[in-house]
Amino acid sequence: MGIPADIFGKRLLAPSVLSADFSRLGEEVAAVLEAGVRLVHFDVMDGRFVPNLTIGPAIVAAVAPQVHRGGAYVDVHLMVEHPDAFLDEFVAAGADALSVHVETTPNLHRTLARIRALGAAAGVVLNPATPVCVLEEAVLSADYVLVMSVDPGFGGQAFIPESLDKLRRLRAVIPPRVALQVDGGVGRDNIARLVAAGADWLVAGSAVFGGGDATVQAGVLQSLVDQAPGFGSE
Ligand code: DX5
Ligand code: ZN
Repeated sequence: MGIPADIFGKRLLAPSVLSADFSRLGEEVAAVLEAGVRLVHFDVMDGRFVPNLTIGPAIVAAVAPQVHRGGAYVDVHLMVEHPDAFLDEFVAAGADALSVHVETTPNLHRTLARIRALGAAAGVVLNPATPVCVLEEAVLSADYVLVMSVDPGFGGQAFIPESLDKLRRLRAVIPPRVALQVDGGVGRDNIARLVAAGADWLVAGSAVFGGGDATVQAGVLQSLVDQAPGFGSE
């Protein structure tokens, strides 16, 4: 299905289902779709690149049709070694956007080209300790860049403050067509600063699903995203 061009021009909240109640995943997804969410984030972990095991293609396939019927898109964040082995399977499961960590593949150009050839948006992810400069070439083959603002592996971790300056520096060097995503520790307290630093797509797990009504939480967070002054307003 892929991601349409208009989504690239939008600032979006992307709820991460990692913090959802998995015993009623369909209801949790319905709750955020009801809030008007356009991007639903799925965290895939392999127990090797990160010290946790989470979602596989079967889970994505189970809820992707519901996401699509709701007018939203499936964003899959691969935190796995050898991501090339899983690209076809996740796109077949319904992924519209697929991101891979630069730390996991030496042949990033090929990986990103394969994602695009499969018809999905290609994302490239940087861990907190990975410098911006590694993207100088790779960004030319990418549709979005994801800045991790925690070390990946778990929901509910504290936001790493240095990520704000990293976003600013990235936004200044990546082409305008490339969306900038941020993931980890995103919530009410930092959304305005993240948007001002250049973030377009804001992933939030525990802030959406960690307590209270997920429709209400997603609605509040999306309105903070909408109202925040944009890049360079600080
Ligand atoms: C972390 C994952 C995140 C996670 C974010 O490894 O990539 O997407 O769900 O969770 P919060 O928003 O709770 O930090
Ligand atoms: Zn993620």
